[in-house]
Amino acid sequence: MKLLAFGASNREGSLNRSLAKLAAASAEKHGVAVDFREFGTFDTPLYTHIEPGGAEPEGAQLFARCLAESNGMMIALPEYNWSYPGHLKNLIDWISRARPVPLAGKSCLLLSASTSAVGGIRGLLHFRQPLEALGTFVHPKMFTLANAGNEMDAKGEFKDAAQQKRLDATVADFVTFARNLS
Ligand SMILES: Cc1cc2nc3c(=O)[nH]c(=O)nc-3n(C[C@H](O)[C@H](O)[C@H](O)COP(=O)(O)O)c2cc1C
Repeated sequence: MKLLAFGASNREGSLNRSLAKLAAASAEKHGVAVDFREFGTFDTPLYTHIEPGGAEPEGAQLFARCLAESNGMMIALPEYNWSYPGHLKNLIDWISRARPVPLAGKSCLLLSASTSAVGGIRGLLHFRQPLEALGTFVHPKMFTLANAGNEMDAKGEFKDAAQQKRLDATVADFVTFARNLS
C-alpha cells in the first residue's frame, strides 16, 4: 500500500511539515510506502473561474497524479482562524473539476499541529467537509498536537514519548482502515 503525505504549509520550520514527516515514518513501520511531498510542489494560482477546457495548473496536476498513484493520504494542516487554510481549499477546488475526481475513494488521515492550546481540531472538522463531498473516506480518528512549538524539538521530533505513542496508535489504526478500503 502507498500513501501520499504532506504538511499543508510552506513555512520554513513548519510544525505541520514535521508532524507529517513523523506520521510518514510511523506508517513506514507498518510496511507502507510513503510518497512525502513538500506542499510548495502543489502550489496553484487562486481559483476564480476556469473556462471550459482550460488547463489545470501544474501543482494541481501533480497532486492528482500523486493521488492516482496512492491508496490514500495523510495531511497535517494548520488551523487558521478556527478553520483550515484557504490555500488548501484552493488546491481542493482545482482538482475537484477533474473527472474522475482524484480524491474519490481515497482514504485520508487528518492531523494538525497548532501553537495554541486547542490543537487545530476546528480546522480538521471543517476540512472533512469538502473531502467528504468529493468522496474521500476520512478516518474518523484524527490527531491534534496542541502547544506544538513546545511539544516538538528543533529537529521536529516529539519531546515526550507519550506523544509518539499516541501518534503511532492513530497511524496504526488508519493503516488498517486504509488497507481494508483498498
Ligand atoms: C493566519 C493565521 C491564523 C491562525 N489561526 C489559528 C487558529 O485559529 N487556531 C490555532 O490554533 N492556531 C492558529 N494560528 C497559529 C498556527 O497554529 C501556527 O502559526 C502554526 O505554527 C501554523 O502551522 P505551521 O507551523 O505548519 O506553518 C494561526 C496562524 C496564522 C498564520
